[in-house]
Amino acid sequence: MLRARIAGIGMYVPKNVVTNNDLARVMDTSDEWIQERTGIKERRYATPFEDTTTTMGVEAARVAMERAGVAANDIDFIIFSTISPDYYFPGCGVLAQRALGITEIGALDIRNQCSGFIYALSVADQFIKTGMYKNILLMASETHSYGLDFSNRGRNVSVIFGDGAGAVVLQPIISDGSPGSASRGILSTHLHSDGSQAEILSMINPGFHVGKFVPEKKPAKPDQPYGGLFITKELLEKEDIYPFMDGQSVFKKAIVKFPEVILEALKANNLQVSDINLVIPHQANLRISQMMQHQLKLRNDQVYNNIQKYGNTTAASIPIALCEAWENGKVKDNDLICLAAFGSGFTWASALMRW
Ligand code: UT7
Repeated sequence: MLRARIAGIGMYVPKNVVTNNDLARVMDTSDEWIQERTGIKERRYATPFEDTTTTMGVEAARVAMERAGVAANDIDFIIFSTISPDYYFPGCGVLAQRALGITEIGALDIRNQCSGFIYALSVADQFIKTGMYKNILLMASETHSYGLDFSNRGRNVSVIFGDGAGAVVLQPIISDGSPGSASRGILSTHLHSDGSQAEILSMINPGFHVGKFVPEKKPAKPDQPYGGLFITKELLEKEDIYPFMDGQSVFKKAIVKFPEVILEALKANNLQVSDINLVIPHQANLRISQMMQHQLKLRNDQVYNNIQKYGNTTAASIPIALCEAWENGKVKDNDLICLAAFGSGFTWASALMRW
């Protein structure tokens, strides 16, 4: 059976470092509060007129492609995961395709928030397994800093998020007869969602929901156009144009679902927690990762976190962390790697792979 493997990985983060003290100068927060509640020390912000979600994804892709030893004309499918696209439409997939000089292959955009990378990986995995594609370029990139509320009202959200991108090239595994080679690659992916609390972590505008959507917290007035396509002065004055998060509710759900979806992946492959070499959790909050680690009784060297440096980069956080771990020699051939994510939607997912 064909299996997909990551043949090359790359990352890109903007050069602009924003510390907690930088944020404390524009809103009522502190380095102490942010570090204690999230573990974050600094994050990167895109440079206006230089970095966009697409350009960052493309920079990461160039590195991944070079490491995979593939050229633009070898790529036969593109997947781009983001919740912060350059345009409302078309998606970043075709913009990246143009920037990389790739013509007339398929390009798919995925918007599954924090679990977007694993969802995209799962889609790519299916295409490779069926033999349909041989070189899939997967980019995950986010530019949050252009759309955050930097007033006190938005401080619980804005201190968390950062910008950046990761990319991988996926290829079918080639069994070269060396020990263990046949068991390498993506072993399984596990995708979940529950839309019953969709607005609990959301950005509702711009949208097409004129006067009709669920949130009890702010019912739209029926006599008033309210969707993002009707951008009125009144709309711009409301916080609805910014991301909203009920942080505590998200936190409580995350610390249940992270361990659950990791155990699901292990069970599906008849493996144990002790078999894992490295868990790369979505970098939502260091405390969430630590609680997951504690519940699964994982050693420190079995979990990789870099939220301290980059904040939460949503879909990009896992490929950035995986890339950095690999560059630091913490991901080695034949290692068992588990990716896990939870976030807005809610959506959550895991992937188990033998590197
Ligand atoms: O990746 C997507 C998934 N997202 C997540 O997984 C995020 C999950 N949630 C969290 O990480 C945490 O809930 C936060 C970090 C967002 C917030 O931490 P918290 O410990 O849950 O704080 P809180 O929202 O309960 O607020 C506690 C206090 C409040 O003040 P009062 O009412 O106790 O006086 C907030 O107003 O902290 C205040 N606060 C802040 N203070 C300083 C909220 N944000 C800030 C801030 N700086 N940035």
